[in-house]
Amino acid sequence: MSEVAVLDARDVVVRYPGTPPVIAVNGVSLSVAPGETVALVGESGSGKSSLARAAVGIEKLAAGTVRFRDAPVTPLGIRRRSTALTGIQMVFQDPSTSLNPRRRIGDQIADGIATAKARGAEGSRVEEWLEKVGLPTTVTSRFPHQFSGGQKQRIAIARALAARPSLLVADEPISALDASTQTSVAGLMRDLVAEAGAGMLFISHDLAVVRRIADRTFVLYSGRVMESGPTDRVWSDPQHPYTQALLAAIPEPDGAGRIPEAPSTDDRILWSEVPPVLG
Ligand SMILES: Nc1ncnc2c1ncn2[C@@H]1O[C@H](COP(=O)(O)OP(=O)(O)OP(=O)(O)O)[C@@H](O)[C@H]1O
Ligand SMILES: [Mg+2]
Repeated sequence: MSEVAVLDARDVVVRYPGTPPVIAVNGVSLSVAPGETVALVGESGSGKSSLARAAVGIEKLAAGTVRFRDAPVTPLGIRRRSTALTGIQMVFQDPSTSLNPRRRIGDQIADGIATAKARGAEGSRVEEWLEKVGLPTTVTSRFPHQFSGGQKQRIAIARALAARPSLLVADEPISALDASTQTSVAGLMRDLVAEAGAGMLFISHDLAVVRRIADRTFVLYSGRVMESGPTDRVWSDPQHPYTQALLAAIPEPDGAGRIPEAPSTDDRILWSEVPPVLG
């Protein structure tokens, strides 16, 4: 007996209009089993975010199908709440996209907890989620603009996890974080999702983190899957020249294994500098 996948994408094509149109995702099939973390890696522009958005129903499919626990995921526009109630959560590459600028962050995490309860899942306290992602519990009444990019991303992660999703799609959830906390936050996400028997589609430039947390890895290039398989196998015995080149680009000495990217903005704002909310 095989378990029903939490996510099953078949022959997905995502096309953006233009002259010529951009085929961002060109026939990708991928599944995520309950309890499994699947990583998507590949250079900038390879179609990772487009596929992630298609997986949660906020990007129209030009062809193919996406099923969530055996039910079709239909494009929902930006009605994220409906998606949430089905048990899908997404953490976006840009944390500002995940958070409502006008709502206090404690209320936004409470929304996640309410979503969990509405689905019959276990709730929890806002403060516990803040602690889990390494933020002080005293910041609940602040608004998103009072946080750095990395801090906002932690809040977005806390809110998504608090909803106890069956499927978490996380697009570069750790790249805005301080390097010293990236691995622990990624590990926390993986552990909480796996413990709940949920699945995670995890997108990251950080190949060292991917290697640690992903059960399987898909290598995307120009909208197509170049190679996929158990992460250990993809790393120890990459079959495709593109994968070999990608892995060869990892700087070995410190094992950091990251594709160069913009410097982190996390903790740029010190807590002592954050003014209290007025009014
Ligand atoms: N809204 C859009 N309209 C037109 N083209 C787009 C749009 N979004 C993405 N693209 C194009 O589609 C392709 C895939 O983009 P996508 O953002 O999915 O890649 P990515 O792998 O997530 O890249 P990155 O690592 O930089 O986040 C790129 O050529 C990009 O320029
Ligand atoms: Mg992207």
